[in-house]
Amino acid sequence: MTSTQAEIDLSYSVSNEFFQLWLDENMHYTSASYASGDESLEDAQKAKCRILYEYAEMTPSKRVLDIGCGWGSNLLYHKTQGTQTAHGITLSTAQAEWANTKMGLPGSYQVKLQDFWKYEPEERYDALQSIEMVDHVVSPEQANQGLAVELYRNYFKRCWELSKPGAWFGFQAILRDRVPRTKKDLEDLKFTADVIFPGGLNPRLEEMIMAIRPYWECVELRTQRESYGKTTGEWLRRLRLNEGTIRAQWGDRVYVEYERYLDTCVRAFAQHWSSDVQMKLRRCDL
Ligand SMILES: C[S@@+](CC[C@H](N)C(=O)[O-])C[C@H]1O[C@@H](n2cnc3c(N)ncnc32)[C@H](O)[C@@H]1O
Repeated sequence: MTSTQAEIDLSYSVSNEFFQLWLDENMHYTSASYASGDESLEDAQKAKCRILYEYAEMTPSKRVLDIGCGWGSNLLYHKTQGTQTAHGITLSTAQAEWANTKMGLPGSYQVKLQDFWKYEPEERYDALQSIEMVDHVVSPEQANQGLAVELYRNYFKRCWELSKPGAWFGFQAILRDRVPRTKKDLEDLKFTADVIFPGGLNPRLEEMIMAIRPYWECVELRTQRESYGKTTGEWLRRLRLNEGTIRAQWGDRVYVEYERYLDTCVRAFAQHWSSDVQMKLRRCDL
């Protein structure tokens, strides 16, 4: 029903130190939110966290769950806002270890190596956030069988079950918009899907809108295709700056594959093959 643990480990476990070389200092592996376009990647990542914090209607006393929390970057933002209880779940062994030992999170925070589909918390959450985890929910094969909306709806239902009445959900997803026109572009996109993110598929905006019902109401929605273009452009620039170190430590293949993947992403956002959405979702309590 979702990317397997082995597929997730392929995507996120080259080495924590490898990702540290080209992501921002807190290792957000998702689109930042640029305003003017002149700010640093670090500031734009904070702006993304701010938007999703507000979308989740957070206050320091609310218990929040970050579904697919990566290396814990968004939880670190919660620390700066004085959130008392924040939990994160990830399916990546390397990310969970890093988040628990290297991020300096408060003792009341927990990052669990935990499959979302099997997560049974002791207490439901006042607020949810999930930043680009939903692209691991439906495989290309399942989408070809026409199962996408039904499986995304299962994801939103599960989120509903994890939350309390009155909860808000700050949600972000990478999107697929248009199919590229040339053979090379199609091959590059297929390479990204097969080699960098096996088992995953970017959803369509229409599928998200259909799937949130009847569990959530979308009260605000913004897309940020250009912000993702800038984010991936900056990741590519930093990767290239570290070419020598990466080739020496992780081999030529890792460098070549990640350069091809990030270069493809930059073109994907520039040419509208891909986009990104943030949604403010209110729990339906009928
Ligand atoms: C693209 S990363 C985004 C990480 C983080 N939200 C960020 O902004 O950097 C996707 C995340 O979803 C997690 N994930 C995917 N499938 C999952 C599942 N079934 N249960 C828990 N986490 C999952 C991955 O382990 C990874 O941490």
